[in-house]
Amino acid sequence: MAKTSVASIALTFLRIFISIFLVAITQEERSIYLVLLEGDALAFHQASRDQASSTIDYNSEASKTHVNHLLTSHDLLLQSTLEIGSYNKLHSYKHIINGFAVHTTPSQAARLKGRPGVKLVEKDKGAKLMTTYTPEFLSLPKGVWAQEGGDRNAGDGVVIGFVDSGINPFHPSFSYDPLHPFTSILSCFEGACETGPFFPPGSCNGKIVAARYFSIGAQATVTLNASKDFLSPFDADGHGSHVASIAAGNAGVPVVVNGFSYGLASGMAPRARIAVYKAVYPSVGTLADVIAAIDQAVLDGVDILSLSVGPNEPANDTLTFLNMFDISLLFARKAGVFVVQAAGNKGPASSSVVSFSPWSMGVAASTTDRKYAASLLLRNGSILNGVGLSGPTFGNGKVFQKLVLAKDAVKINGTSPRTPEYIEECQHPEALDPNIVLGNIIICTFSAGFYNGTSTLAGIIGTSMALRWEGFILVANPSYGDYIAEPIPFTVSGILIPRVDDAKVILQYYEEQTKRDKNGTATEFGAMAAVGEGRVASFTGRAPVVSRFSSRGPDITDINKNPVDVLKPDILAPGHQIWAAWSPISASEPMLKGHSFALLSGTSMSTPHVAGIAALIKQHNPSWTPSMIASAISTTSSKYDNLGEHIMAEGFEANSLIPSTPFDYGAGFVKPNCAIDPGLVLSSEHEDFISFLCSLSNIDRDAIMAATGEQCNNPLAYPFGLNLPSVTISALRGSVSTRRTFMSVGNKTETYLGNVIPPNGTIVNLYPTSFTISPLGSQDLEIQFSVIQPMKNYSFGEIVLIGNLNHIVRITLSVLPVSM
Ligand SMILES: *[C@@H]1O[C@H](CO)[C@@H](O)[C@H](O)[C@H]1NC(C)=O
Ligand SMILES: *[C@@H]1O[C@H](CO)[C@@H](O)[C@H](O)[C@H]1NC(C)=O
Ligand SMILES: *[C@@H]1O[C@H](CO)[C@@H](O)[C@H](O)[C@H]1NC(C)=O
Ligand SMILES: *[C@@H]1O[C@H](CO)[C@@H](O)[C@H](O)[C@H]1NC(C)=O
Ligand SMILES: *[C@@H]1O[C@H](CO)[C@@H](O)[C@H](O)[C@H]1NC(C)=O
Ligand SMILES: *[C@@H]1O[C@H](CO)[C@@H](O)[C@H](O)[C@H]1NC(C)=O
Ligand SMILES: *[C@@H]1O[C@H](CO)[C@@H](O)[C@H](O)[C@H]1NC(C)=O
Ligand SMILES: *[C@@H]1O[C@H](CO)[C@@H](O)[C@H](O)[C@H]1NC(C)=O
Ligand SMILES: *[C@@H]1O[C@H](CO)[C@@H](O)[C@H](O)[C@H]1NC(C)=O
Repeated sequence: MAKTSVASIALTFLRIFISIFLVAITQEERSIYLVLLEGDALAFHQASRDQASSTIDYNSEASKTHVNHLLTSHDLLLQSTLEIGSYNKLHSYKHIINGFAVHTTPSQAARLKGRPGVKLVEKDKGAKLMTTYTPEFLSLPKGVWAQEGGDRNAGDGVVIGFVDSGINPFHPSFSYDPLHPFTSILSCFEGACETGPFFPPGSCNGKIVAARYFSIGAQATVTLNASKDFLSPFDADGHGSHVASIAAGNAGVPVVVNGFSYGLASGMAPRARIAVYKAVYPSVGTLADVIAAIDQAVLDGVDILSLSVGPNEPANDTLTFLNMFDISLLFARKAGVFVVQAAGNKGPASSSVVSFSPWSMGVAASTTDRKYAASLLLRNGSILNGVGLSGPTFGNGKVFQKLVLAKDAVKINGTSPRTPEYIEECQHPEALDPNIVLGNIIICTFSAGFYNGTSTLAGIIGTSMALRWEGFILVANPSYGDYIAEPIPFTVSGILIPRVDDAKVILQYYEEQTKRDKNGTATEFGAMAAVGEGRVASFTGRAPVVSRFSSRGPDITDINKNPVDVLKPDILAPGHQIWAAWSPISASEPMLKGHSFALLSGTSMSTPHVAGIAALIKQHNPSWTPSMIASAISTTSSKYDNLGEHIMAEGFEANSLIPSTPFDYGAGFVKPNCAIDPGLVLSSEHEDFISFLCSLSNIDRDAIMAATGEQCNNPLAYPFGLNLPSVTISALRGSVSTRRTFMSVGNKTETYLGNVIPPNGTIVNLYPTSFTISPLGSQDLEIQFSVIQPMKNYSFGEIVLIGNLNHIVRITLSVLPVSM
């Protein structure tokens, strides 16, 4: 069999929001449709603007009148277009986009298309949380992170909004310490605190500054389950609390699970304030609710929006940039909000990103240098490495116990079906002879049931507890290949042995020591082993490495994966085995029930790292726009790991490492200390994004007009002309030039010298090759590419501007040189 282990254990924890369109009824079934309308939303409505300050006063009479006007126009349009009783309006969007979500049939939705004023009608494809639910460990902030996270004021004055599964307000990561009050006043933020089940008044405590929930889309889709889909901002899942604590959890919170202390956790910006917008429920998540949450968060005045939720794949009916979700991000950015988005967990396949647009920052996930190495000691002296967050077997892992292969303990005359689940996967206590297994270490095998998701680690643990084993070993099955194992805290002793080579040693030793009769039945068990302590981290080894699950570029414009001249993902941050806050109800993950912390992996986890770092940058540089923050994060990042070598990536095969490219990590691994002081920044504003859209060759200008309300008056010569901190050209022919405009954010005049590492197959020239720039000054750089050798695939390079005051600015080049 191929060594292509599916995410094995990972799979059993993978939670997908079941497609919301499965309800079979004979009549035309209803779905949620997202509708975008002509006319300015409140945030961009000139008449609501205060003439003096040119900002919008959301409480003014003019604003209220405009909002009422929008609401009435939505209702009138529906009444005049659709049959009475054929629809429910779910949400009116009015703050950053003008539109609504409606629950109706396809034929009614079709009537909306083509009505005057209707720009887009899009079916809601659901929203997914970007966690793999691979139980993992996560790294406590250390090194550069400790410096940021340990600061008693890090992030103060900045509000990060989280659109997710809510928050657990009782968690110490979100408590408010009256002895350490916030010093900043949030003059631009005004949120509400909704209450309800598990979310009493007072839950917004100064650390949590707003909490709302959006459920109308979810309620239209399924019957919510009152024992977990709470109608309050409370997080019954755990994911929302996890994500919020990574970005902005209090510093120095002890992580204790099953009575074992794993160290201290801190958010990236522990003094940033948290605004909660719950839009995803254990039973379902809809884009209708997610967009309503984004619309509100921007109005409330969040500085940063952290989105570990998003579409599961590109829409098949709109371009990636012009679907309602991406359009709402465009307008959030226009309103001055820095948007950070999970790149997706569909790696390592090429073009698997689900963060598409140049107006948001898409975050890829990496490992950290923290490892939880568990070990198995065989009595003949061999030590094998494995994975598991469990304590040692009896005698602190130094006293040998009898080993029994599950197959040799199966009840001879048992009536169970003789499937792998019963025979070797240890899923059913009734299949095993209690006398043979009692007090021993049982060897279970990672076979068919784990690959198809019917067998689980929780099943083994249940069997182990029921039959009172001393411990278990889950070995790879030599006929399936290596599997991928992620640590999770177990209450029983156990170890995962994911490599076939190690499994073979154990199995061979076991056979050598086991006596069997002519029929092959084991009559005497002579093999002995001990499981070592698996809960102590070591900080060794290569890191960061791009995680296998992390979605890869190149960026795409549509479901056919046509490439586009934008670098995605944008940046790499830790997202593998991250310890952070949890919600003990753990409605979606039974193995983590009762836990206050969880070790999880996903681009869900890397995203809030970048959101927290953006808060530190914003605190340092309050006047910076979102594109300046994004540029600072990108140009200061690193393409090298802790060994000083080029960052590697986990490949398709389990446990394989391959050289990585910017399509795995974007600009590189985030370096918060440098990002605070980048020297130069590149910005793009709303009109630049419109010019970018208008320059795409496969795009219909009417669609741009419909989605953005803007005419194509100033298209760029090429899409790669957008002033991003990277240059990506998906078909480079002959000689082309593009320009980047830099602004100095240093406080002294500095001279920069340009260096180029040209992508293979090209020559790259810079004009000028050096320049001197004064504070707030601006400088254009002409970048001329010439193809010297067409290539079969993308090749990569870099422009490095080195300043005499030690600023280093890196611009990633990704080009596919083709013949004329
Ligand atoms: C509701 O959720 C609870 C807890 O997860 C579960 O036990 C119960 O079966 C669910 N009820 C329905 C109708 O799905
Ligand atoms: C898009 O996908 C949905 C299901 O995901 C399918 O029903 C629909 O026909 C597809 N539309 C197009 C245009 O391919
Ligand atoms: C180009 O390289 C990527 C990995 O960087 C790979 O996934 C893809 O298959 C390659 N494409 C071609 C056409 O070789
Ligand atoms: C299995 O065999 C044992 C010993 O022969 C006997 O005591 C037991 O009742 C049998 N169990 C079943 C389920 O037949
Ligand atoms: C999964 O594998 C188990 C063990 O081989 C088998 O019993 C079960 O029928 C399989 N289920 C599916 C859905 O393939
Ligand atoms: C223990 O036994 C296994 C299986 O025969 C063998 O591969 C391994 O080398 C042995 N270890 C030692 C230290 O002899
Ligand atoms: C081996 O199996 C045969 C046939 O099932 C049975 O008759 C015999 O008693 C078994 N021998 C032993 C030693 O169990
Ligand atoms: C200039 O910037 C550097 C680096 O950000 C900083 O250390 C220094 O204090 C600043 N100097 C002044 C005068 O603002
Ligand atoms: C460029 O080509 C060299 C030699 O063929 C190869 O070793 C290297 O990996 C290539 N680099 C890139 C970035 O494609």
